[in-house]
Amino acid sequence: MKKLLTITASVLASLSISFNVLASENGVHLDHADTDINDQKSLQNGAQLFMDYCSGCHSISFMRYNRIAKDLNISNADVKKNLMFSGSKLGDKVVSSMTEKGAETWFGTTPPDLSLVARSKGTDWIYTYLRSFYADKSRPFGVNNKVLVNASMPDVLWELKKNKSAEDFNQDVRDVTNFLDYVGEPAKLVRVDLGYKVMGFLFILLILAYLMKKEYWKDVKYGNWRAKD
Ligand code: HEC
Repeated sequence: MKKLLTITASVLASLSISFNVLASENGVHLDHADTDINDQKSLQNGAQLFMDYCSGCHSISFMRYNRIAKDLNISNADVKKNLMFSGSKLGDKVVSSMTEKGAETWFGTTPPDLSLVARSKGTDWIYTYLRSFYADKSRPFGVNNKVLVNASMPDVLWELKKNKSAEDFNQDVRDVTNFLDYVGEPAKLVRVDLGYKVMGFLFILLILAYLMKKEYWKDVKYGNWRAKD
């Protein structure tokens, strides 16, 4: 009984740790991103949105165009047409053309490389951050951010927010976030898929093992195994 109580207490403690993660450093509540790494449509839309709205400033230099094409099932021709800067090659890394010097002058800081941002900040943080810009005349771009206070990034998605329903806008932000999650760990596509298969295999094994146990114990129960005396 005592052991059971200790186990329950430690499970509760670990749960409360994961609940704490739902708030950002400055205590702002983070909305659940609810992304699905196996949703190819979402990843494809996210890749398109990233190239259209983010890649002007941010690089994802751990990622190459042809890897995106392969992983997200986009033909090389479509990647070339829709996702690439002119002059880049399929094997190139996805690097922004913005120079560091220019960035320093415009934003006072260099837009960080976003290759690993989903792993350092988490998907909930990114999802909430991109939806938390508000008008603030005292800031250079006229906007501030609730999650990253005094962020030097403009509200790049303002046009989408204006023209779309709240639901569609949230879905777009979810797709970009999903894409950044994939970029942070491309192997997740395989890992998560494999995880389900392994769980399925273990489940089938459990049934077989149970049936076998039943078969073995049948004899034990009726005493058939004992030598006749
Ligand atoms: C006009 C340039 C520009 C564009 C376009 C832009 N950003 Fe940024 N972004 C910045 C700058 C500058 C920062 C650094 C903000 C700071 O630290 O104050 C930043 C910071 C971020 C951060 C926080 C990174 C960290 O580790 O703190 C995330 C996440 C981010 N941007 C995502 C995006 C996404 C997603 C898009 C496209 C939808 C985008 N950005 C488009 C300039 C830009």
